[in-house]
Amino acid sequence: MKVFIQTYGCQMNKLDSNLVANSFVQAGFQLENSPDSADIVLINTCSVRQHAEKRVLSLLGYISHQKKSRPEIIVAVFGCMAQRLKSELLSHEAVNIVCGPIQIPQLVNLVNKAIDNTTKQAVFSTDIRDLSQQQTELLDDFETSYDSAEEHLPAQAFVRVMHGCNNFCSYCIVPYVRGPEVSRPPDKIISQIQRLADTGVKQVTLLGQTVNSYCYKGFSFAELLYEVSKIDGIEWIKFVTCYPKKFDEKIFSAMADLPKICRYLHIPAQSGSDKVLKAMNRGYTCDEYLNIIETARQVVPDISIAGDFIVGFGGETEEDFQKSIELIEKARYKNCFIFKYSPRPGTRADDKIPDDIPMEVKKQRNTELLGVQEKISSELNKNFIGKTVKVLIEGTSKKAHLASGEETNHPQLIGRTAGDYIVVFNGPQNLAGQFSDVKITKTSPLTLFGELTAG
Ligand code: SAH
Ligand code: SF4
Ligand code: F3S
Repeated sequence: MKVFIQTYGCQMNKLDSNLVANSFVQAGFQLENSPDSADIVLINTCSVRQHAEKRVLSLLGYISHQKKSRPEIIVAVFGCMAQRLKSELLSHEAVNIVCGPIQIPQLVNLVNKAIDNTTKQAVFSTDIRDLSQQQTELLDDFETSYDSAEEHLPAQAFVRVMHGCNNFCSYCIVPYVRGPEVSRPPDKIISQIQRLADTGVKQVTLLGQTVNSYCYKGFSFAELLYEVSKIDGIEWIKFVTCYPKKFDEKIFSAMADLPKICRYLHIPAQSGSDKVLKAMNRGYTCDEYLNIIETARQVVPDISIAGDFIVGFGGETEEDFQKSIELIEKARYKNCFIFKYSPRPGTRADDKIPDDIPMEVKKQRNTELLGVQEKISSELNKNFIGKTVKVLIEGTSKKAHLASGEETNHPQLIGRTAGDYIVVFNGPQNLAGQFSDVKITKTSPLTLFGELTAG
């Protein structure tokens, strides 16, 4: 039987899809690249913005059409949107199975049952806030049994260090669909990374919605970084995402002390206006945020910092928006992800704060903020010209980047620096998964271009 998996959403979902794919392969299924030739279609969904949900619905529409000629196709929807909409999704004509994000260890069984018998099935938490001890253990076993390097990122793996989120930012659906924060035991994380290293993994990215608040029975994230650093074979360690509240500065000392920890910090601010930050329930002021990144730069001088912003949150005036521009200018991020506010049903903001900024204004603010960031990224990138950087090569670049206009027999490779800068250069494909030195010759706001240095 052939299985096709489509994934939407964040790194957490990509990791879950990787685990699910491995569990299906081990159960004897074969992975397929297109829904058209698959017997089973698995869709890992995201609810963070309405747009993410719309994409799922349009894929389901496409599959409904396919099912007219091939009614035997089995469709399982899992992940965050499955948890949010539950039986509403099960009533969709294309859907056979709905499965919440913490029930993914059950997916193989659910699909096997659906093959034998066509009745619809669903498993999800009615209240995900009651994650039971047994469920947590089941998940942990699943996590460690089916982990592997990323298929499309040789020598790299993602490792979850914690589940869920307790912050309840007023706009955000994540705590409702992913449940409360639960940190995984450090010994399990360490042995998992050790095993990944033994299979040739060189870079691990530790994942959590608020990874800096990792804490297992008093064992902190900074302590975890020291332990992961000791693992032979692992050369680079990255982690995402950090939350700018009660930031344990020992994390910065760990970054300064430990050469394997990449000097990269993704620390979303969301807004530069204290009034908006308060309405978002973020729990810090703009000054407090700036203090954290200033400390980061003092302790780890060459650290590169990335951020997220939401524009057009309910009540965001032109003056509030100007404060986000000012924050971007002060923070001098390496790059920023900017999102138009999308009200999520069931969140506090959706309930209490009218979505009163017109879409046109959201779009305008989005473009303007991107422009401000682009100018900064472009300036920061230019500083690299003439310098040699070490990259971990990911593979061939999907887009044809016209780096130098030269004719070449080599494909364009794409790699990333420890600071998460994207580097494009010519070289043989078999370098994917290797570290290399690249001399930067040219830059754009998003990319560094260069040449492999000899040796
Ligand atoms: N846990 C991470 C991010 C999770 S969601 C953190 O707190 O930093 C990723 C990003 O999506 C957020 O940083 C935020 O910028 C954006 N986001 C979340 N909910 C949103 C919503 N309702 N509308 C628009 N953007 C949203
Ligand atoms: Fe959402 Fe806030 Fe938690 Fe991030 S910290 S996942 S934005 S609730
Ligand atoms: Fe990630 Fe989307 Fe869920 S951002 S945690 S997949 S709602």
